[in-house]
Amino acid sequence: HVTDCNADDCERAIKAASDAFPVWSETTAAKRGALLMTWHQKIKENVDLLAHLLTLEQGKILSEAKGEIHYGASFIKWFAAEAERAYGDVIPSNHPDKRMTVVKQPIGVCAAITPWNFPNAMITRKIAPALAAGCTIVLKPSDETPYSALALAYLAEEAGFPKGVINVVTAKDPVPIGEVLTSSPMVRKISFTGSTRVGKWLMERSAPTLKKLSLELGGNAPLIVFEDADMDMAIEGAISSKFRNNGQTCICSNRILVQDTVYEEFQSRLAEKTGQMKYGSGFESENSLGPLINKKALEKVSGLVEDAIAKGARLASQSDDDRNGLFFAPAVLTGVTPEMEIFSEEIFGPVAPLYKFSTDEEAVDLANDTRYGLAAYFYTRDLSRAWKIAEKLEYGMIGVNETAISNASAPFGGIKESGFGREGSKYGIDEYLNVKYVCFGIR
Ligand code: SIN
Repeated sequence: HVTDCNADDCERAIKAASDAFPVWSETTAAKRGALLMTWHQKIKENVDLLAHLLTLEQGKILSEAKGEIHYGASFIKWFAAEAERAYGDVIPSNHPDKRMTVVKQPIGVCAAITPWNFPNAMITRKIAPALAAGCTIVLKPSDETPYSALALAYLAEEAGFPKGVINVVTAKDPVPIGEVLTSSPMVRKISFTGSTRVGKWLMERSAPTLKKLSLELGGNAPLIVFEDADMDMAIEGAISSKFRNNGQTCICSNRILVQDTVYEEFQSRLAEKTGQMKYGSGFESENSLGPLINKKALEKVSGLVEDAIAKGARLASQSDDDRNGLFFAPAVLTGVTPEMEIFSEEIFGPVAPLYKFSTDEEAVDLANDTRYGLAAYFYTRDLSRAWKIAEKLEYGMIGVNETAISNASAPFGGIKESGFGREGSKYGIDEYLNVKYVCFGIR
């Protein structure tokens, strides 16, 4: 059982964060960093429990849940160090009687609205930089996965964060909470990971108070396999990026584009491997995929596959191990074309649709033919092709012969309707800092 907070509770959380801000923002960066490291330590000591909780509420297999706890903790460690590196600047003066400097200051109360697909890591990726910068937080986790958020907050309290610095608002209905977070003049920034539709709603509602926003929204990642690719690497990359978290990440490869000369080979090898994948309870170690998050997700994935088949696609492989509940057997679809819904929709499920192309230009055009621009991947051994394609792909993140691109030191984020702002890396903390220019007259 989890508290179902309402709009008033959210107002109280904002007030608590606002009251805590003056002291927290003036706490030294070294002290904030040290507290973050204590929190990090506590998470590391509780990996097994946190992972168990995560699998229980989200469904991903336990090994992935453990991986997520380590991944989530890595953002805390990274930003604990970044706290002390939030340097300003001294600008060469344009006048003998002036000295010009820039200082960076915490924005204020920040809201983090986080998704269910990474119930731990998307929280730490947002709130660790905020806390490192000196901001205070109101966190609204997904109603599908409140427990991981509460467990993190519990450990943060044990680590010694002062009251009011981190506030968690759990609620069944996100709308009243979103309305309060967006309309409150006390909230100076919102960081959101979720759908493009909700991102636009938050942006519209934040306009009257001109909040700073970071929006990490939907994706439609292409994975391009050129004929000169190392086929073993390409298959391995396709499997891991497609089926990570049961296909439920914003950067899962959503469209696999394969050059016509190697299409048959790629398709049969991918289908064979996919057909061997086991799915079921995340607690059974033989499974590599768990359930989907809810019935709506299952209906969406099934609907996309049905539409593609009705328009001429073929299931090259799908385990016939039929199961009840929220399970979807991992599948490879061949003969998929841009006219099918699956080409433009984020699948968020374990279905790998294969498209055929002939030339590099065609591959780039197909890859860029989407309103999204989060992540893209391609496999080639030709260095000049690699440079050219990486430059032409309209995405915030590119994996060249690599699909495991996420880590705390890299800038995560998109362009186009995948949003803006960067998380992780040396850029991540800037999202929570104001740049203040201070000019000294020294006549
Ligand atoms: C996401 O799906 O939004 C996050 C994926 C990642 O951090 O790798």
